[in-house]
Order: sequence, then structure tokens, then C-alpha cells
Amino acid sequence: MKHFLKVTDFSVEEAEDIFKNAAAMKQLGRKTPAALERQSWGMLFYKNSTRTRVSFEAGLYELGAHAIILSSQNTQLGRGESVADTARVLSRYLSGIIIRCYDHAIVEEFAQAGSIPVVNALTDFLHPCQLYADLFTLMERWDDQGPMVNRLKGRKVAFLGDTASNMANSWILSAAHFGMELSLGGPAGFEPGPEVDRLLDEAGLPKNYVFTTDANAAVKDADVLYTDVWVSMGDEEEAAKREEIMRPYAVTSELMAQAKSDACFMHCLPAHPGMEVTQEVLDSPASIIFDEAENRLHVQKSILAALAGE
Ligand code: CP
Ligand code: NVA
Repeated sequence: MKHFLKVTDFSVEEAEDIFKNAAAMKQLGRKTPAALERQSWGMLFYKNSTRTRVSFEAGLYELGAHAIILSSQNTQLGRGESVADTARVLSRYLSGIIIRCYDHAIVEEFAQAGSIPVVNALTDFLHPCQLYADLFTLMERWDDQGPMVNRLKGRKVAFLGDTASNMANSWILSAAHFGMELSLGGPAGFEPGPEVDRLLDEAGLPKNYVFTTDANAAVKDADVLYTDVWVSMGDEEEAAKREEIMRPYAVTSELMAQAKSDACFMHCLPAHPGMEVTQEVLDSPASIIFDEAENRLHVQKSILAALAGE
């Protein structure tokens, strides 16, 4: 049974097929073939969401499937039923499930106990669906002949701010998997943790990222400046401390000017203008944030079709 819990769950060759199919689906728009006809998929969300929830629900509809929205509160999970039993039961009704939760162990446990594909729609540790949409957005921008994934090779991404986050971890896996250079610029104490290095080891990938506390050094010669909120869902108690120590990593026009002249700005959203990025950068021609958001829909439809076709 194939799951999509982390960026490396699809080989580079499988990812290439997913990206190609996403491009075809984007062309067809709402008229994509109903690859998931008569299927029901669960969408279990323990955390808030705008993009992920809506793009998956719309995408499932466009693929001919029915989406059932679940939360820990409106199911017996909220009254203590185990994840494993929930997985076993829901596997009897559904063709797959999309889960957003805190502890990454929950998606792993669901995948292990159940018998349907599990899609990670964000955990505290990883956000692979966002990364596939981000990489697709870059490949559109760097349009070229030959395999789509080759367009990523050798490009430099600078990730600023919360360098120990689910987004930073997902970039670490992506850079190693797809042959990109990655520079992480964040405060001391926010170095990537050993768990992500363990995933690199398991996948036989090099630890090819660099961590620095110097924002200017991080963005030098970068093709992409990427940032995310300083206070992720679940980190609210640390908000004041984070907002103070991450301030030097805010993406401003001055910081953008240190990167390559044609560098683009990316953010998974939601953004907090005046915090991790200025309004000026968000609104600048370099900003491709809404293409990223749109591509969630097309790329996730392709991922769902790939999982359903297994
Ligand atoms: N980028 C992202 O995952 O957004 P949502 O939290 O709105 O789903
Ligand atoms: N790091 C953020 C991403 C939101 C899409 C969070 O986990 O809240």
C-alpha cells in the first residue's frame, strides 16, 4: 500500500510522472478524467486549514470522488477511540484518507494499521503536499525541454525564519531528493533536528543543506527566497520569543536584493505581513505565492490519482 507521508515516498521517477500529470490536469482544469469515480475519501483535520482543506475537497470532487470531512471532535477519536482502531474501521468504508494533525506518529500509525492510502496534509514535522506544489511552481517558472525534475537541479533555495519547522524539514528532504542547494537562515537553537537527518539516512540521501544564523549569507546567489510563519500551529505559547529572535530573518526588499537578480519569493501561506515578510515583497513581481496556492489543487489531484492507481 502506497502512502504519501513525506517528500521521498515517491521516487524521483514517480515524482516526474506526478508533475507531468499535474501539468496535464492544470490544462484540463475542471474537466479532468474522473480517476476516483465512486470513491469516498476521508479528510481528518485536527488543525485549521484554508488551502489544504479546500484544494483537497475541490480536487476530490473534480476527480469524481466524495469527500467526508472529519475532525477529532466530530468522531470518536475525541472520546478516546484509538488511531489504530479508527484506521481499521475507516479502511472498510473509504478508498483513502487525508490527515492533518500535530504528532507525525499519527499519520504513520494510521498508515500502518489501516489498509488505505494515507496522505499527509501537514504534521508538526512535515508538509509534503505543499512541497510538491512549490516544486511544480518552480518548474513552471523554469520552463525547459526534457524531464521536469531536471529543472530543479543545482538551483539554490534560501529558507528564512523558523528553520526547525515542518516546512524547513520538507525543504531539506526535497533539496536532497531533487538535487537542489539549500541554505537555511535562522536563529541559534533552530537548527534542523536529528529526525530529519535520520530520514535522509534512511533514503540514502546526502545531508546537503547548510544552516547559518546570518540571513545575508543564507540568501547569497539564491534563486528562491522562501519563508513561513514564525509561529506554527502548536507553537503559540512561544509566540513572543519567536517573534523577537526571528526578526533578523524577515524577508524584506533589501534581503531580496542580496539574492540573484531574478530570484523569486515563495511562502506557503498564510502570511503575516510585517512579520516574516513585508507587504512590499508579498506584492512584488518576484512573488509567486498565489501560483503556489493554486498549484496545490492541480498537484494534489495528480498525487491522489497516482495513489488510487496503485
Ligand atoms: N499552506 C497551507 O497548507 O495552508 P493551509 O493551512 O490554509 O491549508
Ligand atoms: N509551519 C506552518 C505551515 C502552515 C501551512 C504551520 O505548521 O502552522
